[in-house]
Order: sequence, then structure tokens, then C-alpha cells
Amino acid sequence: MADQTQSSEQKRPIIFSAMQPSSELTLGNYVGALKHWVELQATYDCVYCVVDEHAVTIHPEPAKLRKQTLDLAAMYVASGIDPEQSVIFVQSHVPAHAQLAWVLGTFTPMGEASKMTQYKEKSDKHGANVGLFTYPVLQAADILLYQANLVPVGEDQKQHLELSRNLAERFNHHYSDTFTVPEPHIPKVGARVMSLQEPEKKMSKSDENSNATIFLADTPDDIRRKIKRAVTDSGSEIRYGADRPAIANLLELYHIASGEAIGAIEERFVGKGYGDFKAELAEVLIAMLSPIRERYMQIRNDKATLNDILKKGAFEANRRANRTLRKVYKKIGLVELE
Ligand code: AMP
Ligand code: TRP
Repeated sequence: MADQTQSSEQKRPIIFSAMQPSSELTLGNYVGALKHWVELQATYDCVYCVVDEHAVTIHPEPAKLRKQTLDLAAMYVASGIDPEQSVIFVQSHVPAHAQLAWVLGTFTPMGEASKMTQYKEKSDKHGANVGLFTYPVLQAADILLYQANLVPVGEDQKQHLELSRNLAERFNHHYSDTFTVPEPHIPKVGARVMSLQEPEKKMSKSDENSNATIFLADTPDDIRRKIKRAVTDSGSEIRYGADRPAIANLLELYHIASGEAIGAIEERFVGKGYGDFKAELAEVLIAMLSPIRERYMQIRNDKATLNDILKKGAFEANRRANRTLRKVYKKIGLVELE
């Protein structure tokens, strides 16, 4: 069994990705991230992490953080990430992340860290702290510990990926080959789900208008209500167009949920109105999301099984991460005990 893991690990390129347990997941997170993570399992050796140490940079309420960490891990599994096939774990269960981040921090020039735009935005909102400043260094440690070849992320994480690459190259150059230099894997632009209320904005978990966002834990009735209230463009045709952002977004959602080509959907709705289209859209979304929601509730309520999944994930993640950390410690001159 252990040998099998080792050999498949060597054969297939490695994927690493992570999300912060900072709030409920949305349809945007599923379509833009989780759905790809699930598909990537067929080709890659995948490692998926819940980054709770990143989340503490803005001091969430402890009970809420604990809950959301387990919620997110359960949602990974419910979405289709298979714990038998991929590594699913929580960052704080693997001490090597914080340990490697310390070392990588010494290889990060102040100027390079100061250029990170997300740090500036978050500091404006939450007040600056050193943890927010070194957040991207911890992210680099996440990725480099697992020798990841590819990192699926959204456009907003490109800069952090660039830092991870620079750190890997710098360390390799200063000592000798240690880290795989990771490539970002950014999904095509089509996979951006827009707000149901303001279709020029991304669908976001923090939207104040509760009708703007579909959450993965929404009930079928929530989904029907939100789709019914979704804004539309002027006119009444179900036609895709850059000048019709609301309908374009709804058509894309229909396409993603049903697999039907956008042209075919348009044709079926010729002569019909928004009401018919929205009613059907709600049903195809429910068909996609209901199984996820049901699995989610089942896993989330089965504490022992979820705990076992995360224990197994932590064990395998520690094994892989410590292998890299030991190499790093040795190269920089830290003494190993016999
Ligand atoms: P966030 O929830 O913003 O931390 O994002 C976590 C992941 O979900 C990132 O990879 C994002 O690119 C993706 N994501 C979040 N919202 C959307 C959206 N509306 N459309 C597509 N992808 C999204
Ligand atoms: N910073 C990422 C975000 O906000 C989350 C993250 C932490 C991450 N470590 C990572 C993403 C490593 C990819 C790889 O979305």
C-alpha cells in the first residue's frame, strides 16, 4: 500500500491548492475552483489543503474558525475530492508549513514582499500586522513543501505564485536543486460566475445582497428564489451577448450545470420568456448542487468519519512535507540529531 502511494506519487505530476476557511462556499467557488480540483484528480497526484493558519491573520472568532475549517473540509469531500485518491488536510496539522515559512522568509527581500497587492488591501481593511505581510511566504511554503508542479488558482493569486516561483528558484540556485518550481494553472475566463444582482461584479461570499450569491449549502427553495429574483437585461430574448451581461451569466450557469451548448439552449428558448428560462435554470442548478449538499450534510454530521479523513490526510501530508523540510534544514546547515 505504502509502495503504491510512492510510485503513483512519482509518476503523476503534483497539484497543490488550498482555500481559506473564511466563510461559506459559493457557486462561484465550486465552478471556478472545486469543480476543476475534482476533475484534476484523474490526471494528477492532488494535495488539497484547508489553510487555517492563513485565516488567523485577521483574527476570526475561534469557534467560527473551528466550524468553518470542518465545513470546508467536508465541502471538499462533498464536491467530489476523493480522500482515497487525493490528500485532504488542514494546514495547522502539518507543522512543516510554519517551519518552512520561517526559512523562506529569510530568502524574501523586503521589497519583494512589499509589492504584494493583496497585503495592502487586507491591511487597509483589517490593520497591518506582520502575519498579513508574510502571508504570501507561508503560501509559498504550502506549495513548495509538496513539490507541486501545478497550482490551480484564480487570477488574484498570480502574484503570490510568482513569489513562490522566485523563492524556489532562489533557494535552488543558492544551494542545489531542492524545490520543484511551480506553475500557476488558471482556468479560462469563462469560469467566472457573476453576481445575480449586479452581473458586472464577481459572485462573492461577502456580497451584502443575499440574493446576489448562491451558496453551496442553499436549499432548492433558496436557489429557486434567488434565480427568480436574478436581474435580467432589457428586452426579453434569451440570447448570449457581451452587451447582455445578466443573461450571458445565466446562460453560462445553465451551460455549466447541464452541459448543454449555449447555442442549443438559446434555440430551445426562442419565443419563450425569462420566466420559463429561469424556472428551468433553477432546476438544472438544483440537479447539480443537490447531490453536493446532501453529501455535505451527511459528511459534516458524521464527525468520526470526517476526523478519520483529516487524520489520514494529515499523516500523508506530514510524511511528504517533512521529507522536503528535512532536505531544507540540512542544506542550510541545521544540525540533525542521530
Ligand atoms: P475566494 O472565495 O475568493 O477566496 O476564492 C477561492 C477560490 O474560488 C479561488 O480560486 C477563486 O478564483 C474561486 N472563485 C471565487 N469566486 C468565484 C467566482 N465568482 N467565479 C469563479 N471563481 C471564483
Ligand atoms: N491565498 C489563497 C487565497 O486567498 C489561499 C492559499 C493559501 C493558497 N495557500 C495556498 C492557494 C497555496 C493555492 C496554493 O485564495
